[in-house]
Amino acid sequence: MITFGDECPIGVFDSGLGGLSVLKEIHHLLPHENLIYVGDSVHAPYGDKSAKYVQQRSQQITEFLLNQGAKAIVIACNTATAEAAEILRTNVDVPVIGLEPAIKPASQLSKNGVIGVLATQRTINSERLLGLTERYAQDKKVLAQACPGLVEQVEAYELNSDKTISLLKKYILPLLDQGVDALILGCTHYPFLLPEIRHIIGSDIEVLETGIPVARQLQRILKDHQLERYCFNVEGGATCKATLSIYNSSNKKQAHLTMKKLWKDPISIKVLPELN
Ligand code: DGL
Repeated sequence: MITFGDECPIGVFDSGLGGLSVLKEIHHLLPHENLIYVGDSVHAPYGDKSAKYVQQRSQQITEFLLNQGAKAIVIACNTATAEAAEILRTNVDVPVIGLEPAIKPASQLSKNGVIGVLATQRTINSERLLGLTERYAQDKKVLAQACPGLVEQVEAYELNSDKTISLLKKYILPLLDQGVDALILGCTHYPFLLPEIRHIIGSDIEVLETGIPVARQLQRILKDHQLERYCFNVEGGATCKATLSIYNSSNKKQAHLTMKKLWKDPISIKVLPELN
């Protein structure tokens, strides 16, 4: 097997475990890339914290990832992207890829022009969402629904408990009453609730997540900056030997167990050192 190109890892982080939904897509699209993930479960949800707090944590985690040699940073968190992406882009020398709620594709897919957005309160209030709506959905009805409590349910691996289902119904049913035909999952924790969401909305409504588009954007950016890692075996077929390092700021068994269940394949998890 021969590897060439840039061996440095891609750093990915989220307020907690939700970013694993993005990491999965990156791992799937770019199986030959070395990856490091940080889930900041001790401080989740970021949606409840001040902008300054989210910016500070994002900067500290990014610094940690850069110290591990990261060649690019993916902010696998809508809330942290809204609050910290610009600051990180100004302060670091590697490409920083953020997320944004899928207003543009939803706007193209919606037939009746009624679009629902599920996200944290902080994302719903963000300038970023407002800007995207003004830019891509001026002629559409965009119904933004904050979903307090859902991040915590995913962190606790309560994907289909009574409490989770009743929260989902509380947030989604009013959107259905108003006729949404495209529903944006504007938080990376929510794709883990997709089976339950589908159960509530049925099969006709388009659901948009950001994992796959972000993985594709990362692929383009790595190419543009000549940062890709390649890997071939002697027969010439691509092989996928790459490292996957997963950190969590929490040392609690529950957080680690949830990470393992969400990731599905066997992984070992390290506790993130104290960051200053
Ligand atoms: N996964 C994060 C996001 O995409 C959750 C934010 C939070 O912790 O509040 O927004």
